[in-house]
Amino acid sequence: MSNSHLKKTFYLTAVSVIVSVIALSDVNQNCMAKNNGTMPNEFLIGTWYLVYQFDHIGPIPTCTCPNVTFTRPTEEELRGYREKYGRYDLPQNITEDSLVADKGYIKGLLLGGLETKTYIIDPKSVMVGGPEGYEVMVYRRINEKFAFFWRCAMRGHVRWLMTNDRNATDEEMQLAIKGRREVFNKQIRKYCYDICY
Ligand SMILES: *[C@@H]1O[C@H](CO)[C@@H](O)[C@H](O)[C@H]1NC(C)=O
Ligand SMILES: *[C@@H]1O[C@H](CO)[C@@H](O)[C@H](O)[C@H]1NC(C)=O
Ligand SMILES: *[C@@H]1O[C@H](CO)[C@@H](O)[C@H](O)[C@H]1NC(C)=O
Ligand SMILES: *[C@@H]1O[C@H](CO)[C@@H](O)[C@H](O)[C@H]1NC(C)=O
Repeated sequence: MSNSHLKKTFYLTAVSVIVSVIALSDVNQNCMAKNNGTMPNEFLIGTWYLVYQFDHIGPIPTCTCPNVTFTRPTEEELRGYREKYGRYDLPQNITEDSLVADKGYIKGLLLGGLETKTYIIDPKSVMVGGPEGYEVMVYRRINEKFAFFWRCAMRGHVRWLMTNDRNATDEEMQLAIKGRREVFNKQIRKYCYDICY
């Protein structure tokens, strides 16, 4: 490749990276402004199961049961996150009120006491949390047992229903989402079913 060609490729790559970062920041900021309800972190402590996925893909049920356990971070964990992320310009600060989100294969920390929370990945992990080093997510309480979850970066195209009751019935789930505009007209894919395909 000629030198000028290389330069051109470099600039194009740099420009597209910058553009996508700006676009995502806008999406995240917009998402934070729109989803400004409260969601006390206390409410999330415990294990939650992602039972419905609202998407455009088919409704085939599966026995896969994605789940996440929220706990309070230890002082040591907080220190680790502060050391790694202290120099980042995060939308929300690392505080005592943060929550460890443990999915089994990956851990992270959720920041912020509102519906929108900033997710940063465990400093010991080799993975990074998106192009900005973090992700912004929405957790919206429905009632004692149910909440919605989605990633701002997905622009609302994919949302989840999660429950803290592993034995919640399909009737309860349907009742929880009844008339909810968050998932209006979306297909439901069911998780945590007995059937495995
Ligand atoms: C909160 O979000 C709603 C829309 O979801 C908006 O109408 C309202 O202005 C927002 N409030 C603040 C304080 O930003
Ligand atoms: C939680 O998810 C893990 C995989 O990440 C899975 O191995 C485990 O069985 C799930 N727990 C339940 C109770 O379904
Ligand atoms: C984070 O904390 C610093 C000082 O401790 C403060 O100036 C800043 O506004 C905080 N940022 C947010 C997003 O709350
Ligand atoms: C859920 O059901 C299983 C058996 O179907 C039972 O062992 C378990 O105790 C139940 N859990 C709750 C929280 O009711």
